Amino acid sequence: MIKSVFQIHRKCVRRWCHNTARRPYILGIESSCDDCGAAIVSSDGKILGECVMSQQNCHLRFGGIIPPVAQDSHRNHIENVVKQTFTQAERTCEGIDAIAVTNRPGLPLSLLVGVRYAKYLARKFDKPIIPVHHMEAHALMARMTNSVPFPYLCILLSGGHAIITLVKSTNDFYILGETVDDAPGEMFDKIARRLKLRNIPQYAWLSGGQAIEQASSKCHNPASYDFPAPLSQYRDCQFSFAGLKNSATRQIILQERVLDLPPDVVIPDYEDFCAGLMNATVRHIAHRTKRAIRFCEGEAFWPTGTKRCLVISGGVASNNVIFNAISNLAAAYNFETIRPKPAHCTDNGIMIAWNGIEKYITGQNITKVYNDIDIFGRANFGTNLIQKVKDANIASQ
Ligand code: KG4
Ligand code: ZN
Repeated sequence: MIKSVFQIHRKCVRRWCHNTARRPYILGIESSCDDCGAAIVSSDGKILGECVMSQQNCHLRFGGIIPPVAQDSHRNHIENVVKQTFTQAERTCEGIDAIAVTNRPGLPLSLLVGVRYAKYLARKFDKPIIPVHHMEAHALMARMTNSVPFPYLCILLSGGHAIITLVKSTNDFYILGETVDDAPGEMFDKIARRLKLRNIPQYAWLSGGQAIEQASSKCHNPASYDFPAPLSQYRDCQFSFAGLKNSATRQIILQERVLDLPPDVVIPDYEDFCAGLMNATVRHIAHRTKRAIRFCEGEAFWPTGTKRCLVISGGVASNNVIFNAISNLAAAYNFETIRPKPAHCTDNGIMIAWNGIEKYITGQNITKVYNDIDIFGRANFGTNLIQKVKDANIASQ
């Protein structure tokens, strides 16, 4: 049923694109986790309006994301966020061609708010909806502002994910590696909280990852904490951040005991500690990236002379230490490393609108059968090549 609607619509879109010089405009709505975002984007990558309401301060106060609290905040803000986006864009809902909305994966209570609001608008203004996979949107975001031809390698590093994927088209993802436990942002957030960086005013309102990056840049002795890079003996591209989180937590507890620190006091050499943690994180991501590049070279995905791109996206990609290290590594293999600007790496409505554009112009996943659009807390992402990478048994140190 859905398929036939898509097919009919695909024909309409082609005819429509052929008959008019006007570019499609898509409204994107993101509410998969704790950021409530909306944006209107045109097919030439122009952002007409955008608005993000971050709940970071609220969650910092609670010490983490509490799903019903996140849902309440989305409910309170979504209408205003969308209204502000339309005001900035100087257009009404009649002036857009479709509504793209994140429907998977994410916190179900949060996803529900965005999807319901998208359906409400779509019904009211008779617009099609494009359901969007949050991680696909992160992976395709760089194409809005840069020339990134398919296929390309993409590393997605966020508060919920760590994935290395080969992107063959807007709808075709091959997973080379993913985390077996925690995500890097989750590890940074938990360690920053355990370090009590919030008690230092300059870090109080930053995300864990931002706080650790800034603190590590002020280190005096980067070698004083040495954390082992995880999974280095395994010849795959899998990630693991739980071991790093546990050994970092043990180190903090040990230091606090040795120095007999009162409960609210941060260990004195926390900047060196953060540098040690950053260093191990970078080494781990670099090991996995190097093997992914060598695997792709073995598979000859890029004919000689074609442009090879490596995209880094997701909230953790805004980390300059990680970005610079991966860029240098990739350059040695003739890859150009690209990342969306920091505000586009974290969750936002622009990446959802852009994903909507990519889907709209190729006529994929567009529907007016609103009742068929469901939300999914978990969702498959691409074709799994993890075992194939393991079987390739590539040494890379
Ligand atoms: O993609 P995102 O906005 O939300 C998720 O989908 O998870 O990523 C948020 C994560 C948080 O865990 C935050 O600590 C991390 O990205 N992050 C950073 C940096 N900025 C944000 N991690 C490392 N370095 C940063 N500069
Ligand atoms: Zn995200």
